Amino acid sequence: MPDASTGASAPNPHLPPYAARGLKGRILSGVQPTGNLHLGNYLGAIRNFARLQSDYECLYCVVDLHAITLPQDPKQLAAQTREIASAFLAAGVDGAKQIIFNQSMVAEHAQLAWIFNCVARMGWMSRMTQFKEKAGKDRENVSLGLFAYPALMAADILIYKATHVPVGEDQKQHLELTRDIAIKFNNDFAAPDFFPVTEPLIFGAATRVMSLRDGTKKMSKSDPSDYSRINLTDDADAVAQKIRRAKTDPLPMPESPADAEKRPDADNLLGIYAALADQEKEAVVAQFAGKQFSEFKAALTELAVAKLGPIGAEMQRLMKDPGHVDAVLRNGAERARALAGPILADVYKTVGFLKP
Ligand code: TYM
Repeated sequence: MPDASTGASAPNPHLPPYAARGLKGRILSGVQPTGNLHLGNYLGAIRNFARLQSDYECLYCVVDLHAITLPQDPKQLAAQTREIASAFLAAGVDGAKQIIFNQSMVAEHAQLAWIFNCVARMGWMSRMTQFKEKAGKDRENVSLGLFAYPALMAADILIYKATHVPVGEDQKQHLELTRDIAIKFNNDFAAPDFFPVTEPLIFGAATRVMSLRDGTKKMSKSDPSDYSRINLTDDADAVAQKIRRAKTDPLPMPESPADAEKRPDADNLLGIYAALADQEKEAVVAQFAGKQFSEFKAALTELAVAKLGPIGAEMQRLMKDPGHVDAVLRNGAERARALAGPILADVYKTVGFLKP
């Protein structure tokens, strides 16, 4: 309602804070500081983080608690955490307007995760394909944290009541579980609409970037072959070499999108080109139809170096200034705690814990 003396509208107490600011929702997303940040992480997630910031209130988290579900060298973890924060900044996320922080600095994530460990069911967790892949045949020997990983991820999101989560396609199942946890918590504690049912934001021409050595396998930080991925910190020579050696088949470039779909290595490279060029894949297929792979690979190298070079250079510059990156993370964590604290207090009350 307009204020009679100033004409300004009073804030509507029933609107969530982001809506009162004319934004579409609150975003939370996370990246693990496990080294080898690659093109898939960039095209599937981090590039979108920057693109969404004009329409959403955003929290971008370096998930160091998740990283230690598998063994990490303590000497490297801090550097890897700064590397991810540098990538967020180098990709164009505004650390002053948006919140960039690391998970372990905001204790509320782990506190809510414990409650979610008690809401989620063993059967739900056992069905997670990421757990099955990471545990492999050695299930008895992996950490309990690896099994409970998705409950912590749900806590990352719901401790801020985030409405949207930009991720690559491989995280879809974890987001479905996050929705199940939110719904079960709301039902179990008779608190309808307490937690929102979060929407995944999976978009762009490269939501699942595949290995350069095998177009049927996801590009991954943990692939033993460095030739399987383009790292964001690779220099122009490394990018050129990796694209030159990328696996292809003996035929010329696909003639149509249907032809490309049947040829995973070619399809992957076409998807990468389309994403980097901000074009539809169909247009890229048409542009290179019937040409030799060598010609296409030269064009892809030029494009990749032009698009990724400045980001890699800015990351390198930031990583040489850890004081600055740490200040961004500390400031982000302080603002994150201010949002998470009242929500956790509400959860504790809802669950029936006495106030400290
Ligand atoms: P992580 O660290 O494995 O990956 C970070 C982001 O990169 C995306 N991604 C890919 N996208 C396209 N092609 C690929 N080959 C590719 N590989 C990875 C991932 O989908 C992700 O968006 N569990 C998460 C981290 C996490 C999180 C969260 C995410 C923890 N808490 C809360 C969102 C919200 C993970 O392991 O991402």
